[in-house]
Amino acid sequence: MIQTDLTKLLGIQVPLVQGGMQWVGLPPLVAAVSNAGALGVLTALTQPNPDALRTAIRETYKLTSKPFGVNITLLPSINPPDYAGYARAAVEEGVRIFETAGNNPGSLIQYLKGQGCVVIHKCTTIRHAKSAVKAGVDCLSIDGFECAGHPGEEDIGGLVLLARAAQELNVPYIASGGIADGRGLAAAFALGACGANMGTRFMCTVESPIHQNIKDKIVASSEQDTVHIFRTLHNTARVFKNAVSKQVVEIERRPGGAKFEDVRELVAGARGKKVYENGDPDYGIWSAGVSVGLIKDCPTCAVLVSRIEREAEEVIDGLAKLKAVKAKL
Ligand SMILES: Cc1cc2nc3c(=O)[nH]c(=O)nc-3n(C[C@H](O)[C@H](O)[C@H](O)COP(=O)(O)O)c2cc1C
Repeated sequence: MIQTDLTKLLGIQVPLVQGGMQWVGLPPLVAAVSNAGALGVLTALTQPNPDALRTAIRETYKLTSKPFGVNITLLPSINPPDYAGYARAAVEEGVRIFETAGNNPGSLIQYLKGQGCVVIHKCTTIRHAKSAVKAGVDCLSIDGFECAGHPGEEDIGGLVLLARAAQELNVPYIASGGIADGRGLAAAFALGACGANMGTRFMCTVESPIHQNIKDKIVASSEQDTVHIFRTLHNTARVFKNAVSKQVVEIERRPGGAKFEDVRELVAGARGKKVYENGDPDYGIWSAGVSVGLIKDCPTCAVLVSRIEREAEEVIDGLAKLKAVKAKL
């Protein structure tokens, strides 16, 4: 067993977190991850309102007695969702672990800390990590350029970003982006992290609520099958490379560029959600990280989590042996 600051902080057995995933972070997956000894995380905004989140939390309690968390993602929006309402609903339902992500999380973090919660803030720059530390977070999830979803605009890969975190941060952090196996977890430890956060890898598990065709598509894909959209709108998102995302990129590259209105219909959330329901990978935009290239099967969460733990231990033992061999020379 690998014990770290993360396992101690969260009361879990394996230092792995399943990051918030829009339309995917639903009770059956979350409970399966937590039952496997890692931390499952419900995605608040996948629920249409705070009361629906309450129902999802109660459903998750029925499926697991292990700790699980709630993700609250603060995205730029003209009509922002009722973030405070989602947070209050989760706290009132007894949730004590939160993953926050996105813009200006200060007041949300302060509220959650005031309620005695553990807060992991996910961010893509050291600058944002430091602001979150000032706001009082317990842990950071440092999301490198490889990640699915929003990697920020600075394009710093995990290798350097995590080493920078080791230099600059005085609170525990986990590595996020591009991790899908035990090698990745062991590398995270080498870079000073106390665990890892994974999104794409958990999408492709038996308990993940998405259509089997999409899981098969992930298994059949390589690390070249993702693309960035919204680069020119300064709201970059790494998504699966398909007919729709290619069209969005083409529109963005037109002379004179593109406004959000030009791609609004193509990127509609409702179309992306439908991909997971009808199994057509070209129906809309769906998030995926470069770790799709590492995913070769669709195991249960229990098999996946224990395999990653075992592989990480083997890598760590192998590295220790390297040192022993050197000492003998
Ligand atoms: C399908 C999908 C949906 C996601 N939705 C969210 C989200 O709503 N909020 C969030 O903070 N992160 C979201 N993410 C990012 C993950 O929580 C995690 O940070 C990321 O997947 C890590 O990179 P990886 O996919 O290489 O493991 C999403 C990722 C995926 C794959």
